[in-house]
Amino acid sequence: MDFNFTEEQTAIRDTARDFAENEIAPTSVERDKNAEFPYDIIKKLGESGFMGMMVSPDWGGPGFDTISYVLAMEEISKVDASVGVIMSVNNSLVCFGIEKWGTDEQKEKFLKPLASGQKLGCFCLSEPEAGSDATHQRTEAVKDGDYYILNGIKNWITNGTTADVYFLHAQTDKSKGYKGISTFLIEKGTPGIELGVKEDKLGIRSSDTCSIGLNNVKVHKNQILGDEGLGFRIAMETLNGGRIGIASQALGIAQASLEAAVKYSKQRKAFDAPIASLQAIQFKLSDMATLVDSARYLTLNAAWKKDQKQPYHKEAAMAKLYASKAAVQNALEAIQIHGGYGYVREYLVERYLRDAKITEIYEGTTEIQKVVISREILKD
Ligand code: CAA
Repeated sequence: MDFNFTEEQTAIRDTARDFAENEIAPTSVERDKNAEFPYDIIKKLGESGFMGMMVSPDWGGPGFDTISYVLAMEEISKVDASVGVIMSVNNSLVCFGIEKWGTDEQKEKFLKPLASGQKLGCFCLSEPEAGSDATHQRTEAVKDGDYYILNGIKNWITNGTTADVYFLHAQTDKSKGYKGISTFLIEKGTPGIELGVKEDKLGIRSSDTCSIGLNNVKVHKNQILGDEGLGFRIAMETLNGGRIGIASQALGIAQASLEAAVKYSKQRKAFDAPIASLQAIQFKLSDMATLVDSARYLTLNAAWKKDQKQPYHKEAAMAKLYASKAAVQNALEAIQIHGGYGYVREYLVERYLRDAKITEIYEGTTEIQKVVISREILKD
């Protein structure tokens, strides 16, 4: 067992940290306040290889491992979790899925520009009546010669209004249930795509979320990813990797909350001494640091298993379950340590709590992670 990072992994983490501090931090407060999408930042992240980190050089990516991806995601999300989720969806949901199941033609057309940051992708699975219950897709794709005609609504789509490529799931054969779901790669601007209004969210406000309507959208059969009927498996397997990304995002928020709490408790004086000298504060900081380390090891373990080509869906679910809880808990404690100052926008900790909450909801709620974990430990 080796807990050391390689030189390459350390360099990637340091580059991500520098980028986050120098390029992301200066505008994060304003972007959160005004719910502004970080176009320039995403462009630069793409140019530096962070938007398709695990994509092979054959398809325009740097070919890094999942551990490096976790390290970079933590650093970026520590400074701005909105940028973290934009990056995570493109990397672990869209690029991963196309690289694993795409034809060479699809990789040339879609993956290369997504991996090099020239284009941005979104992952469309949830619907108004199919969230946790993702097998019940209502969006239909009806075959018409060499084409499919798609109708339906997709909900809660991260990168929805900005994406150039939709990695979208629809029912191609209702009679087969989830075995009749297929994944389509659809380009922005395809007639019949109707973007909903940008959601006004509690947190990760600088990322963009909307619904996407499909009104007789006509796509060619060569836009199906993998085979017809493989869509639910593709969705589940991409989400396994996505959950490592969201666990890393949550880890970044948990770490940021800890660092803010440590800094403040050393500065703030009460009872004639810094509050860090009080055991009530010391115990909180100890609990926060333990949560961070536990979340980090679970997340790195899931990433390591993925890199070793071992099954990792249970580990990814555990990492997301635990890291998202750590993010919420640490953000709450950081606010408590800041007292009244934690409740206003003067300090960043109120944003950490707003940003943390979604990590318990998207890419499978806390309850869904428990379904995945318990099914695995109860199986024969
Ligand atoms: N990995 C691989 N396969 C999985 C899997 C996983 N984690 N979870 C389920 N499957 C497979 C099952 O093995 C089964 O396949 P077989 O029949 O071939 O064995 C198939 O999927 C159906 O599974 P179940 O029979 O268990 O179906 P279910 O309805 O009882 O449970 C579920 C399915 C686990 C609840 C699934 O619907 C689920 O994960 N729901 C959550 C969906 C989700 O995470 N949505 C996130 C939206 S995307 C998002 O948030 C992105 C963003 O923008 C940030």
